Amino acid sequence: MSTRPDLGGRLGIRLPILQAPMAGGATTPELVAAVSNAGGLGALGAGYMQPEAIAEACRAVRRLTDKPFQVNLFVPDSGPNEGAPAADANAALAPFRAELGLPEPEIANRFAPDFARQAEAALSADVPAFSFTFGIPDEAILRAFREKGVTVIGTATTLAEALTLEDTGLVDVVVAQGMEAGGHRGTFLVDYEQGLVGLLPLLQELQAKLRLPVVAAGGIMTGQGIAAAMRAGAGAAQLGTAFLTCDECGIPEVYKRTLETGRDDGTALTRAFSGKPARGLRNRFIAEMAEANPPIAPYPVQNTLTKDIRAAAARQGRPEFLSLWAGQGVALCRRLPASQLMAALEREMAAG
Ligand SMILES: Cc1cc2nc3c(=O)[nH]c(=O)nc-3n(C[C@H](O)[C@H](O)[C@H](O)COP(=O)(O)O)c2cc1C
Repeated sequence: MSTRPDLGGRLGIRLPILQAPMAGGATTPELVAAVSNAGGLGALGAGYMQPEAIAEACRAVRRLTDKPFQVNLFVPDSGPNEGAPAADANAALAPFRAELGLPEPEIANRFAPDFARQAEAALSADVPAFSFTFGIPDEAILRAFREKGVTVIGTATTLAEALTLEDTGLVDVVVAQGMEAGGHRGTFLVDYEQGLVGLLPLLQELQAKLRLPVVAAGGIMTGQGIAAAMRAGAGAAQLGTAFLTCDECGIPEVYKRTLETGRDDGTALTRAFSGKPARGLRNRFIAEMAEANPPIAPYPVQNTLTKDIRAAAARQGRPEFLSLWAGQGVALCRRLPASQLMAALEREMAAG
């Protein structure tokens, strides 16, 4: 077991379970509050949200729980966030739009919300914990959270990334994201393929080399899995895919139904939906984009370009064109209210 500071005490949670922040509508205030009320740490994935929406969502969570929760943001990299969208990447999407009966969309020329203003919204909302992925925010931002007593949580996919987070002296907790994880890769120091380290080697390395407490993420679906991660050095586990099929989760029904058919050999990493590598259920969009190999715009441009396709696919119940983010443990997902999933995880942890 870890000799690091007690993570549960630090985060104010009874169970060592973090519901992963999942941007894009999954982590509704109802889901966040249900997890926190059950003794875990609920998380609002606010990466795509405008500052006003973050403030409102935090108020909504607070109406449903007085327990701690966290807000998560995407650290921007140096890629373009304004200007004309890439015409060649957009042209490659025409066949999908045609099949969905979509017109050529008006593409916004601003692609992602302003990070500093998002962080300011989270700071003003007095959240107990703040987490981030895709990089490290500016020192001034980290310092502002720290000075307010907010627990700061960074994401690492390699030992070097974890040590870089620790070296800032402004991060309290590191989420170790194994290659099994659903959704976007948090890798920020190396090419994403080099950052595909399995959760178990990553946990063992961090156990040996990192002083900060570690949260294990990637493919964990059961209480036994949480217990195993903790034996390998984690102070808690972060589960994303396991919460996607909860009643309170905001993803479209067709996405939930497709997750129930998911298999360990059925996921793939793709840049085709957003421009950033992410793991999801392999479907026609991923396969045809891989086959055609067209230019793909960098994140967040590609994400903006495919927005109408993903929205229409959800409306029309067409999972073959949806981004079905999921981890390698997807076959173990359960259709339950979040409180029941939390109770099951607690029972299994005790048994495991
Ligand atoms: C649908 C989905 C959306 C995600 N969005 C985010 C996000 O907004 N921020 C973040 O830090 N991680 C995000 N992740 C990654 C999770 O934090 C975590 O690493 C992952 O869910 C763990 O693997 P698992 O899905 O197998 O449990 C997302 C994962 C999924 C499945």
